[in-house]
Parts: sequence; C-alpha cells; structure tokens
Amino acid sequence: MAIVNLNVNGKSHRVEVEDDTPLLYALRDHLEVNGPKFGCGLGQCGACTVVVDGQAVRSCVTPTTVVQGKGVTTLEGLGSSKKPGKLQQAFIDEQAVQCGYCINGMIMTASAFLANNKNPTDAQITEALAGNLCRCGTHQRIVAAVKRYIA
Ligand code: FES
Repeated sequence: MAIVNLNVNGKSHRVEVEDDTPLLYALRDHLEVNGPKFGCGLGQCGACTVVVDGQAVRSCVTPTTVVQGKGVTTLEGLGSSKKPGKLQQAFIDEQAVQCGYCINGMIMTASAFLANNKNPTDAQITEALAGNLCRCGTHQRIVAAVKRYIA
C-alpha cells in the first residue's frame, strides 16, 4: 500500500492505494471524481484523459503513485454543468456530443493542447485529438468546437 498526496482541481487529498492502482481508480473510486471515464483500460482510447502538470495523461495506465504531489485537472476542474468553462461551452454550442462517452477525454486533451498552442491550424487540432477515439463519429464537430474556442 502507498499513501499518496494528490492535488485534484485545486484541492488537496490523501489516498491510500495499492502501489499499482491506476490514477483513474483513485479519482473515481476514492475521490468520486467521475469526469474521467473507463473505456479500454489499456491507454488506447483516451476516455480517461486528465491533465497532470499541463500534460494530457491516460489515467487508466498511470499509477497513482507517479502523480504524488503533482497537479491533476479533470473535466470538473474546467467548469460544471451549471457553469461550463469556455472550452466546455464551445463543445455544447457545436453539439459535439453524441453518446458523450469520449467527450470528457476529448476536452481534457484539447485543454492541454490549447494551453501550448494558442492559434493551431485545423490539421494540428485534428492531429492533437487523433488519439482520442469517438465511436459515434463526431470528430468534425469536435474539431469545430475547438475552433470555436480559439475564434
Ligand atoms: Fe484509458 Fe482507454 S480508458 S485510454
């Protein structure tokens, strides 16, 4: 077992987890932060993406112990359903969600990307989000949402 100090969306937490417990489980099961979703559990779909110290990270394959003392941002850190953040509102305005399962990870990947790319091209946006899978096929609307955000 390990005791890990986590800073999630600006709040400090202490969690006791197995040495190999994925960050996704610590967030969802210990802290009830349910923005990150379990998709593949293999680091391949992006549904579980969170931002750790500015980098998009697949929380399903990231041991909780690795993020000891680091800043973790989840979808909840960008806004809420009652008061969406600007990026979340852009996704709403573009109706980028169909089933919605991938969207939280999409937004978090986009958030990390946009923090370092203030005026990306369409191709750069598409490339940045290519690793996040959407089975509904709303990629065009998702890219449109990111473009709306930067407009
Ligand atoms: Fe983590 Fe798919 S659930 S990448």
